[in-house]
Amino acid sequence: MKKIGVGIIGLGARGYYMVEQLCGMDNYEILAVCDTYEDRTDAAAQLVKKLTGKTVMCFTDHHGVFSVPGLDAVLIVTGWESHFPIALEALKLGIPVGCEVGGAYSVEDCFELVKVQRETKTPFMLLENCCYGRYEMLVMNMVKLGLFGEVISCEGGYRHDLRTEVLFGAENRHYRLENYKHRNCENYPTHDLGPIAQILDINRSNRFVSLHSFATKAAGLNDYAVLHEDVNRDFVNYPFSQGDVVKTVIKCSQGQLVTLTLDTTLPRPYSRGFVVQGTRGMYCEDGNYVYLDTDFTVYDHFDWIKHYNNAEEYLKKYEHPVWEKFLHDGVRGGHGGMDYLVYNEFAECLIEGRPFPITVEDAAAWMAVTPLSAQSIKEDRTVEFPDFCK
Ligand SMILES: NC(=O)c1ccc[n+]([C@@H]2O[C@H](COP(=O)([O-])OP(=O)(O)OC[C@H]3O[C@@H](n4cnc5c(N)ncnc54)[C@H](O)[C@@H]3O)[C@@H](O)[C@H]2O)c1
Repeated sequence: MKKIGVGIIGLGARGYYMVEQLCGMDNYEILAVCDTYEDRTDAAAQLVKKLTGKTVMCFTDHHGVFSVPGLDAVLIVTGWESHFPIALEALKLGIPVGCEVGGAYSVEDCFELVKVQRETKTPFMLLENCCYGRYEMLVMNMVKLGLFGEVISCEGGYRHDLRTEVLFGAENRHYRLENYKHRNCENYPTHDLGPIAQILDINRSNRFVSLHSFATKAAGLNDYAVLHEDVNRDFVNYPFSQGDVVKTVIKCSQGQLVTLTLDTTLPRPYSRGFVVQGTRGMYCEDGNYVYLDTDFTVYDHFDWIKHYNNAEEYLKKYEHPVWEKFLHDGVRGGHGGMDYLVYNEFAECLIEGRPFPITVEDAAAWMAVTPLSAQSIKEDRTVEFPDFCK
């Protein structure tokens, strides 16, 4: 097998975009497309035809995809609420699953995913593209080389102004609106937590032991609706559940703290706020700088802005081998190349029979942050973090 035959379930913004990306990859062949909205399925099928000349099977019910001849895997690119049900069904049928990112709705779902994957031994991978970001991988490499000493504290965030995405959710048939109406949690933890968990060796020599989340009030969406006449007037006073900013602190068994920030309904530029700090150095995404004891002294601590973007210099020495090869072969694909890298890894692992770098236990632990944060906010207390490796 040199390429995998896939069915793509979920053809909204991300799914349609990934159809285009996968049509340009050597190790994928799209056999089927599926969305509950027929117009989206048709549009995706037309795109495949235009880009590859091939005709794909179309479905509005994901069960149809499962019996497509020659199917090697399904890619789940639906809204968050259907990730688990579709993944569990596919795994039980022995169909490998690549699942787009999002938080879980319950800790029980996470345990169920681990249990079913272990029982069936069907491959499952969370397609967390941010684990393949160039600077995330630079930092992973520098940590592995010991340049930061012992890592003590990590921060990350999903800081993305999604006010129009949420408020126009009804018009655009987007899943986020209902989530923001009814849930209050760290709803999108894996972009920031994935690379951090890999750096901290979570589910290997280390693990998450407890979590505490705090949420602000919800005011950003209402204020945006006040100022923008094109937004549904019902949202001016709508009691959204989702706090504008959610802070989560996770304690690790080896003594580190991980701090996550969800910040999606206030004005701000995009950032994943990635910070890794060890006993001998640190990296900070906002400013894109590296600070190593070996390279700077106490006299450099002030007027630090002149060192912003110095991480580019460190790429010359410490580029991650995955990115060295990627640069050599030619960077391609969206989100600066990390979409290509994660989907490529999924395909290559299946083709070569290699284990995935992101295990089902990793997926469960990263996605469980969402229901655990909801519980912590609701009950205003620290909650125990379950061990999905037991
Ligand atoms: N990795 C990334 O960088 C990245 C970027 C954007 C979105 N995403 C993820 O991709 C997923 C989709 O996001 P989106 O913005 O495209 O959402 P969207 O709401 O635009 O699209 C989701 C689509 O899934 C369809 N769907 C839902 N349940 C279905 C089912 N049972 N069967 C078939 N189709 C079904 C919906 O009809 C909709 O068209 C989410 O999990 C999101 O977190 C990841």
